Amino acid sequence: MTNPQILSLNDQDKTLCELPILTGSTGPDVVDVQALYKNTGMFTYDPGFNSTASCRSSITFIDGDLGVLLYRGYPIEQLAEHCTFLEVCHLLLNGELPNEEELKEFTHHVTMHTMVHDQLTNFFKGFRRDAHPMAIMVGVVGALSAFYHDTLDIRTKKDREISAIRLIAKVPTIVAMCHKYSVGMPFMYPQNKLSYVENFLRMMLATPCDDFVPNPVLVRALDRILILHADHEQNASTSTVRLAGSSGANPFACITAGIACLWGAAHGGANEAVLTMLEKIGDVSRIPEFIAKAKDKNDPFRLMGFGHRVYKNYDPRATLMRETCHEVLNELDLHDLKLFKLALELERIALEDDYFIQKKLYPNVDFYSGIVLHALGIPTNMFTAMFAMGRTVGWIAHWDEMIADPEQKIGRPRQLYTGAKPRDVPIKAK
Ligand code: SDX
Repeated sequence: MTNPQILSLNDQDKTLCELPILTGSTGPDVVDVQALYKNTGMFTYDPGFNSTASCRSSITFIDGDLGVLLYRGYPIEQLAEHCTFLEVCHLLLNGELPNEEELKEFTHHVTMHTMVHDQLTNFFKGFRRDAHPMAIMVGVVGALSAFYHDTLDIRTKKDREISAIRLIAKVPTIVAMCHKYSVGMPFMYPQNKLSYVENFLRMMLATPCDDFVPNPVLVRALDRILILHADHEQNASTSTVRLAGSSGANPFACITAGIACLWGAAHGGANEAVLTMLEKIGDVSRIPEFIAKAKDKNDPFRLMGFGHRVYKNYDPRATLMRETCHEVLNELDLHDLKLFKLALELERIALEDDYFIQKKLYPNVDFYSGIVLHALGIPTNMFTAMFAMGRTVGWIAHWDEMIADPEQKIGRPRQLYTGAKPRDVPIKAK
């Protein structure tokens, strides 16, 4: 919506450009700078996009100062409490929570697409058994592009819908296959009588030699973890998916680009890095040493699981993740898990430290997720793949919104050039 206000760019008494101000349904207004270069010959400069809105979106809203996270207007706390992950998938993709009939149909579609083409299993054989699961995910999810030539016309809503269902359905199967391959166990096929999370836990943790009896408390905990990871506005991996999709690349390739970006330790790789950090700290007596390292400008060490580009208050997901942690550890009688007690003490000390208070560094979604996943029996090197499993629906929702956006065009940022000025190649003496 265009706000009657105008931002006028002046050079002394000369007006260089008048820029419209746009107002959303909630949150900060934006200055529409699309005409800036044409009218002034200048670009905006915003490395890291701290002050840049890259698009219009109606999917997720974050208020970093208040620690608010809404999916399609619903608070994350209420969704985590009252909904299942598949209900949240329907919400993110379609804009509304499903009624009973819609949920039944959506669940049926997802269930009917959980198997992968049997030839896809051949891709795993090309990887070393000790390859990082995220490296395998990039390879195998990318390979899905080679199996669905008949439904890759991104201009048709039907093709976009079936691609969304296939990705939501098959990514858990592929994540479980990555784990089974890395430990030399046979792949477990999906079972249609199981729920989405029961199915994943069975493919991930069961073997052909035993029956799998899902623990409902753990199933509910993992379902909630997927809800907490489902979407998060224009974060790095979602922006990567949008940029890849803006060229017209197929959805499987775009989601693969998102997986690659998520892998970074500053982003989705942080949950794995938190557990590695806690194991390195080892004992509460060593916490001050690591807090000092995190505060030392000359030390590249950062307190993993702390800080966030947007949240300058508590990440609401971290609060919910800590509650889930308590539930899982109590259910498994692991409430004295050393790592959890270490994390609680690290959080307490950090939150009382001026450095973290001044810089508004609070625990983020990754701080406790690793401990819960560890307690659920998920290997540490699989944590980011689990994050990708939850975020796949958010990536697809944003990809679909971008394709349908009438303002959509290929993303092509410019730069502030600081290289050599025009010069001639020295002619070599004959
Ligand atoms: C996710 O964007 C999203 O929405 C992401 C995500 C999602 O759901 O998609 O929420 C998921 O990626 C969560 C973040 C996971 N990453 C980590 O936990 C890694 C540790 N955190 C940091 O690397 C950092 O906090 C970032 C990357 C998360 C945010 O970095 P910013 O916004 O670029 O902030 P910054 O690096 O400019 O830090 C501001 C200051 C700096 O000090 P000064 O230069 O001002 O002196 O705070 C310091 C930083 O050195 N700082 C930290 C710190 N994080 C920031 N110091 C110690 N430990 C930390 N963790």
